[in-house]
Amino acid sequence: MQFSSELDLALFTASGEDLHDVMADAASQGPALRATFLGRPALLLTGFATLREFFARHEDFPGGEIYQFATKPHIGSTFIDMDGAEHDRYRQLAMPAFRSRAVAQFIDSDLVPLAHEVVDSMLRRAHNSDRPHHVDLATDFAQVLPFWAISRKLGLPVGTEERQRAWALALLSYPTHPAEALAAAKEVTEFLRPTLAERRAHPANDVISTMLLAERDGVRLDDEQVSAHVRLLYAVGATTTSDALSTLLHRIVTQPSLAERLRVEPEYADRVIGESLRTEPPVSVLPRLATSGGHLAEVDLPAGTLVLCGIAGANRDPQHFIEPNRFNPDRSEGEVMTFGFGQKYCPGTHLARQQLKAAVTVLLQRLTEVRPVDCRPPAGAVLRKTNRLVVEFSPAE
Ligand code: HEM
Repeated sequence: MQFSSELDLALFTASGEDLHDVMADAASQGPALRATFLGRPALLLTGFATLREFFARHEDFPGGEIYQFATKPHIGSTFIDMDGAEHDRYRQLAMPAFRSRAVAQFIDSDLVPLAHEVVDSMLRRAHNSDRPHHVDLATDFAQVLPFWAISRKLGLPVGTEERQRAWALALLSYPTHPAEALAAAKEVTEFLRPTLAERRAHPANDVISTMLLAERDGVRLDDEQVSAHVRLLYAVGATTTSDALSTLLHRIVTQPSLAERLRVEPEYADRVIGESLRTEPPVSVLPRLATSGGHLAEVDLPAGTLVLCGIAGANRDPQHFIEPNRFNPDRSEGEVMTFGFGQKYCPGTHLARQQLKAAVTVLLQRLTEVRPVDCRPPAGAVLRKTNRLVVEFSPAE
């Protein structure tokens, strides 16, 4: 598939290698190409070095501007729509519970048992169906675990995860279904009210309590600010991890030698996860705004340009990666653009990677001899994932 400036990357639904062909074709024509996003003219950046420079120069190209439109109207004001010192202050208030040590504790105490819980419920459903040895790992596992995980990490009432998942999806649909997203935001505020009151009175070991207690330069988050950050974490944290998990599982079930190696060498999962995140980044195209414009080494960005960060292209840039299209978990080139770079580098990276690892480890323990039945390759660009991963399995004894 070839690149065309009329191809709307926000609405891109083709699957498999099509997106990578489009990125490679665009890259062959230059570091920045005129493109379309939700019907608007944009500029697509595909090269690793160009994108890294764009992200790194956050004073010239502040990352918060696009979120004034993309998240603030329905999610509320959070550090994602801020820049500079204000951004850093609010990020420090909201995110300490996502540092690597806090995440490591959570993985052992909560996440592994939770992954077993999700597998139990998936197997129960299969057992009661007319195909007791078939499951859809996309809908029954990948689209469930990360939502349940963020809910537990936040400290929200157990048993309400499915409602939260519906709200997260509604919040994400804001560009196409704004009324539904605004309604979901209101429902989340109402749902959180009793939990916030309870945690203010009796703090616990969870993210909501940490946010309520945090203080920086005399600033604390009020209830509305905590609610907004909860809505943000639902929308940006759970969905991306869920999409990454679906793509990773697609790779593992369609490449049986990989599953065999992971069963005997669980630590190899770190490498497989890293390579899956490089070759199929869940956020393959990230929109940004260059309100004041400026110059990158090779590119002019006129003021007001809608910039499309071609993360999928950067992660397969032949100038940065040897044999970029080959899935090679043993490669030594380290840095990828999957989680962004610079001031807005994703603060959920540890949680995401550790979740992916726990998910794969538990799944391979519980299901033996997984055989693909109906497995679709990843599709889309802005949120790239696979929607169908039906496998036949033998349960572990
Ligand atoms: C595989 C999973 C994930 C991927 C691919 C991913 C990707 C990204 C990317 C590309 C950015 C940069 C956005 C920009 O520059 O405009 C970002 C930022 C962000 N991510 Fe993630 N993310 C993932 C998981 C998570 C998780 C689990 C959380 C929450 C715990 C999270 C919370 C955030 C937040 C709050 C920001 C905004 C950072 C800021 O404004 O400083 N992400 N993520």
